[in-house]
Amino acid sequence: MLTVGVIGCGYWGPNLIRNFINLKDARVKTASDLSEDRLNHMKMLYPSLETTTDYKTIIADPEIEAVVIATPVSTHAGIASEALEAGKHVFCEKPLTRTVEEGVKLVELAEKADRTLMVGHTFVYTAAVNKIRDLIKAGDLGDIYYMSTSRVNLGLFQEDINVVWDLAPHDVSIMNYILESRPVAVSAVGHSYIQPDIQDVAFLTLRYPGSILANLQVSWLNPNKIRATTVVGSKKMLVYDDIASLEKIRIYDKGVDVIPHYDTFGEFQLAYRYGDISIPKLEDAEPLKIECQHFIDCINGTASRSSGKHGLEVLLVLDAADRSMAAAGTEIKIEYPKALK
Ligand SMILES: NC(=O)c1ccc[n+]([C@@H]2O[C@H](COP(=O)([O-])OP(=O)(O)OC[C@H]3O[C@@H](n4cnc5c(N)ncnc54)[C@H](O)[C@@H]3O)[C@@H](O)[C@H]2O)c1
Repeated sequence: MLTVGVIGCGYWGPNLIRNFINLKDARVKTASDLSEDRLNHMKMLYPSLETTTDYKTIIADPEIEAVVIATPVSTHAGIASEALEAGKHVFCEKPLTRTVEEGVKLVELAEKADRTLMVGHTFVYTAAVNKIRDLIKAGDLGDIYYMSTSRVNLGLFQEDINVVWDLAPHDVSIMNYILESRPVAVSAVGHSYIQPDIQDVAFLTLRYPGSILANLQVSWLNPNKIRATTVVGSKKMLVYDDIASLEKIRIYDKGVDVIPHYDTFGEFQLAYRYGDISIPKLEDAEPLKIECQHFIDCINGTASRSSGKHGLEVLLVLDAADRSMAAAGTEIKIEYPKALK
């Protein structure tokens, strides 16, 4: 039975509290928030929960073995390092930290303290993303050519991070996970239409090894909520719509083949394939429940799907996107630090 303390009871923290409480291997002892109102609300939902406005009470509690952090991003590094230094395992919401330097320090600290550090990249725990990963791994889509994603909505505008740091962690973590790879370079353009100096719209292009391209659109300034990913392979193509309640993935047996033998350019021909569309059945489990159980399994030795190192790889992409936006879209090569070699 793992005893957990949760710091941050705003929008997302209560989901984590609910899921940890519902696991048979965990109990949530204490919840912390700066707002008494939020704490009273949590106490109303779970009367046995202890509450505190000072997160250090959780860090200092010898009974609490693991700390879950769902506070604003700029506070992650400070709270997580205090927790690791106190010998706690840490589950930190995405993105891991506000800067790459902070992320490197946390990963090194977790290693030195021999504690689990996991990042809340929720999508790698969804049935849809795991299905896509399995299809790619089995070669069903052929060689992957490129991917494109749209993660747009009206709001929610953040004050401490731009739209890239808010929304792109989802897509980058998904892409790294399904490709089992990481990008070598990033170019990005973005603009701050509403809040000064905080980009609310951005377009990113990632280059992965093997000529795989990925294009991401992230926006807080869009009339419709769209969560769509297209993966184009040499054999098949796939569209993943996370908004769809049913039929989230459609696999298209479509493609273009080059006729293998030709002597002159006049004989060069393309053959278009228009085949069936299939819709795989997906398990109907709550990703957050799987993610919370996975954290406990990782503490017990399972290799993590979204470790501190995976979280740091995502930060490197976000940081490169920021630098590219500041340089009018110039491509930035990503240097992976020693902690990730
Ligand atoms: N995995 C996901 O899909 C997902 C979804 C939404 C948010 N998130 C992440 O969760 C984190 C929180 O986001 P949110 O939308 O819930 O933000 P929020 O602003 O709604 O909530 C944050 C809460 O943290 C509290 N807080 C701030 N400093 C604190 C401190 N020192 N001690 C205790 N409490 C403190 C605030 O009072 C607030 O209630 C962010 O990292 C965000 O990116 C993840």
